[in-house]
Amino acid sequence: MLARSMIAGLAALAFVVSVLSASVSAQDSGAGPATSSTAPAEPPAAPVQQQAIPAPAPAGPAATAPAPQAGPGDPAVATEENGKFFDGDSDPTFQIGPDGSVDWYTYSGFRRYHSECHVCHGPDGEGSSYAPRLVDSVKRETYAEFLEVVASGRINVHGGVQSVMPAFGTNLNVMCYVDDIYVYLRARGQADLPRGRPGKRADKPPTATEDEQACLGF
Ligand code: HEC
Repeated sequence: MLARSMIAGLAALAFVVSVLSASVSAQDSGAGPATSSTAPAEPPAAPVQQQAIPAPAPAGPAATAPAPQAGPGDPAVATEENGKFFDGDSDPTFQIGPDGSVDWYTYSGFRRYHSECHVCHGPDGEGSSYAPRLVDSVKRETYAEFLEVVASGRINVHGGVQSVMPAFGTNLNVMCYVDDIYVYLRARGQADLPRGRPGKRADKPPTATEDEQACLGF
């Protein structure tokens, strides 16, 4: 804690020093309107830099431009806690039995996804003309990155058109089930869980009901 605030203090100090020296050198350089670095940026000139929405289209090498990331890692189950599964990084994961049955949370995620996300992201996480194919996103992003976007949202401009992912951080119907949605999408992306409602599933563990009620504030 202390170390962290000292580092923050030092960083702030370094910033002040650099601002001071910048303004000194601006004065030194004499006349002429100082170009402040805080001046509002000019609106970007015409052809706005294209930043492709990960299209639902062919997953060719061109489709995934972003810098290589760590990604979600191996989804194989490492631990289990009351019917909830975790991978080797302790991130939530799915379990699919030999008969195709899914764990409760994957099934729950299917339902929650289709009540909160599919309007924009398309059925089964397949993407739409408006929002990216999450089946691909979860293969590229880490669990932490997924949580961050869902909680804080994101706004991008593509060729002058705004693309808005709403922030769900205060929406309990999403946040109380965000891990469920994640493992469902992970199962679709990393294990080819078939489209549609999973046919077979584990029963709802009693702890799922308890956690749910605590989260929703019952
Ligand atoms: C109102 C429409 C809308 C809804 C509802 C919505 N999203 Fe999004 N979401 C978007 C758009 C648009 C983007 C792309 C934003 C951008 O261009 O950066 C996005 C981006 C994302 C991303 C980042 C994907 C990537 O490849 O970087 C994740 C993860 C995500 N949404 C998850 C969810 C989840 C989970 C839900 C349901 C709880 C949800 N979204 C509901 C519109 C929506």
